[in-house]
Amino acid sequence: MDLNPLLPNNGDITLITKISGTGSALPAKILTNADLAILVDTSDEWITSRTGIKERRIAVDGEYTSTFAVEAARQALSMAGILPEELDLIILGTVTPDFPFPSTACIIQKELGAHKAVAFDISAACSGFIYGLSIADSFIRSGRSKKALIIGSEVLSRVVDWNDRNTCILFGDGAGAVVVEASEDQSGIVSTHIFSDGTCWDLLYQPGSGSRNPAGIHATDPNLFFIRMEGNEVYKHAVRAMEEAAMAALNANGLTASDISLLIPHQANRRIIDAITKRLDLDADKVFINLHRYGNTSSASIPIALDEANRQGRIKPGDLLLLDAFGGGFTYGSALIRW
Ligand code: ACO
Repeated sequence: MDLNPLLPNNGDITLITKISGTGSALPAKILTNADLAILVDTSDEWITSRTGIKERRIAVDGEYTSTFAVEAARQALSMAGILPEELDLIILGTVTPDFPFPSTACIIQKELGAHKAVAFDISAACSGFIYGLSIADSFIRSGRSKKALIIGSEVLSRVVDWNDRNTCILFGDGAGAVVVEASEDQSGIVSTHIFSDGTCWDLLYQPGSGSRNPAGIHATDPNLFFIRMEGNEVYKHAVRAMEEAAMAALNANGLTASDISLLIPHQANRRIIDAITKRLDLDADKVFINLHRYGNTSSASIPIALDEANRQGRIKPGDLLLLDAFGGGFTYGSALIRW
């Protein structure tokens, strides 16, 4: 059989992980740059020129991380033609779970009725979806899973200091999801590459809620529960790490950037994406960008973008996709996918 040379061929083609469905869900409420200029000393011009962001979606009362995750998951399951009870694995990437425990993945499992799945959250910040995809790929290749759901979902608006113009302009809420299946097709996940660098964890973090600053003791200091970020430093690390993750995927498969049909980078900042595009020497029309509408939705940004690209017909069978992420931790990673 004429196997795709980019896919592992150990005589067992049943262990390929194929994306069979995508979905996304965003809050209806829109917060524009003009709206933000009323809250803090900023302007549409400043935000647009420094970040590329024009507006973001914000959850309202009664909407949680699980709310958007479940909606995105239902869309992905519907596209895949799979019932929730067929799932054997649910992985959620999030840094804004409904609660510290139980895992939001278990809440999602209940809402979907996916009673046969093992469900857990992973904390890898903006790389959460790529980490989840990598774990699911390993489960499927090893035969431990047949049908898995991977979600990135965030309600970052609940951990943003709306008085801090350095951070509140950047983030938004939403969720994206994919269903993956063990497949005999020649298309699917070619390889995933995930990395961590804990030396700079304190450049981007949320001080409160954990065991170092528990809510009971510091209840009078709400600042502990907001995102803290050294923006300039994060920016430099993000560009370097995303280039490294992208090159890891290309080098592992003997490819160059010209082989890529579409790059879907983490949607944090237009300038970061432009820098990666330039370093990889990619044509701008091969890079999917939607951050002007949603801001940085952390773990949700890549699966939301993947779903939009898929539903807009930007991805054709046989295309080679490169997903590229970076986030707090630091964490970073990539996934190469033959569609
Ligand atoms: N409106 C107007 N002025 C502002 C604003 C604002 N919203 N925010 C900061 N400023 C001011 C600063 O106070 C500073 O003023 P000063 O010169 O008088 O001190 C000036 O603008 C320049 O500030 P810088 O921080 O140097 O601005 P910079 O060009 O670096 O842009 C930004 C800041 C957008 C945060 C950038 O550093 C960045 O994008 N970093 C990456 C951070 C990121 O994306 N984090 C997300 C999580 S990680 C990830 O997802 C990849």
